[in-house]
Amino acid sequence: MDFERPPADPIAQLTMWIEDARKAGLPNPNAMALATVDSKGQPSVRIVLLKSLDARGAVFHTNRLSRKGAELEGNPHAALLFHWDALDRQVRIEGDVSAVSDAESDAYFATRPRESRISAWASQQSRPAKDRAELEAAVAQIEKRFAGKDVPRPPHWGGYRVSLNRIEFWRGSANRMHDRIVYTPDGRGGWRTQRLYP
Ligand SMILES: Cc1cc2nc3c(=O)[nH]c(=O)nc-3n(C[C@H](O)[C@H](O)[C@H](O)COP(=O)(O)O)c2cc1C
Repeated sequence: MDFERPPADPIAQLTMWIEDARKAGLPNPNAMALATVDSKGQPSVRIVLLKSLDARGAVFHTNRLSRKGAELEGNPHAALLFHWDALDRQVRIEGDVSAVSDAESDAYFATRPRESRISAWASQQSRPAKDRAELEAAVAQIEKRFAGKDVPRPPHWGGYRVSLNRIEFWRGSANRMHDRIVYTPDGRGGWRTQRLYP
């Protein structure tokens, strides 16, 4: 990436950096930290996997009744962070959050292995659990329920899309002379860029 003449399209650039991480053999090159904020202003953060990226935003899938789901229902704004330490690169995204359509959630859910589709039904993500046996019993029960049948998407499971209101590319450099470029939408379908001090 040429930070002196930033490429016009930050989406293509981010896609390229994820691909670079994949080619470098890094585990989970599409892993990103997702920060949400609850009704009291308390932030929380966890890792999720980026499953699609285009001009509409960055999509991950989860249990909508989870802690993150509840926080996003109450405050539909989020920040995302990619960090590929071995490549000395970081990307920060901020945006508004919306639920992806049922059709899009269904299409992604259908690509998951049967076992993880079963787990999506069995896990009451973020709720207190007595012990591991309780989870295993829930899985066994769901396996029985869907024996010999397709496992549909649970109604509480689906994708969220984070719009690309701000994307920042960071590249590490010697002596803390790092490069930073921020992209913001220019309102005409293109992007404004701004270099920042490191
Ligand atoms: C590498 C990695 C990938 C993960 N991917 C997802 C994901 O795509 N969706 C998800 O719901 N949780 C994912 N998790 C688990 C979350 O980090 C988190 O534990 C879970 O979603 C519950 O978060 P919450 O209680 O804040 O809602 C992943 C964890 C790791 C370490």
